[in-house]
Amino acid sequence: MMAKLPRWHRVLFSPACERNKGPILAVLQDWLPAHAKVLEIGSGSGQHAIYFCQQIAGLTWQASERQESLMDLQAQLEVQSPTLPPAIALDVTDAGQWPSQSFDAVFSANTCHIMPAAAVPHLLAGASRVLRPSGLLLLYGPFHDGGVHTAASNAAFDQHLRSLDPAMGLRDAIELVQLAQNLDLECLADLSLPANNRMLVLGRQ
Ligand SMILES: C[S@@+](CC[C@H](N)C(=O)[O-])C[C@H]1O[C@@H](n2cnc3c(N)ncnc32)[C@H](O)[C@@H]1O
Repeated sequence: MMAKLPRWHRVLFSPACERNKGPILAVLQDWLPAHAKVLEIGSGSGQHAIYFCQQIAGLTWQASERQESLMDLQAQLEVQSPTLPPAIALDVTDAGQWPSQSFDAVFSANTCHIMPAAAVPHLLAGASRVLRPSGLLLLYGPFHDGGVHTAASNAAFDQHLRSLDPAMGLRDAIELVQLAQNLDLECLADLSLPANNRMLVLGRQ
């Protein structure tokens, strides 16, 4: 039987994670080396961390969250996946919060359109600092291409986000790839995933 969460923690659950974790797992199985050490940015509910560690033997997954959400994430991980390393506080814009260790991959799902546009270059730069020479940055989510949406649902989602907060909104994959190239990270793959989402796989060739 699963242990109970302490009463003072919010129970976190993302239906989107439940839908996308299978397709994302298939990408990770294709691209991650054996015994990979992965840093996740914006782990949210922890569902991805928990599921991928259950499914990929030998995976080391370092979950992270912004300080204000860290305790809720950690409570979730302790109950559902006690062998995961404790989640760390990481706001991509705070260079001092990035870990000093290096990783085979940095993974982040559905964060680029939530953080302000100005924070995205910090995500890319931080990832490039912590990645091993052959490391990969895996960015999952909906993106547009130079303002052209790949689906009507993405255009509507973009509008919805901007109406909630003008700092949020879908990001331009072309711009992201250009920013990554300036950091010596090439676009190795741009994979179409269900519900008009994509996985950008960026790395040094
Ligand atoms: C929609 S949630 C996605 C959570 C989880 N990755 C998922 O797929 O369900 C957006 C996430 O972006 C994170 N985020 C927003 N701004 C951030 C920043 N500046 N640094 C790190 N994470 C950030 C939030 O804390 C939140 O976990």
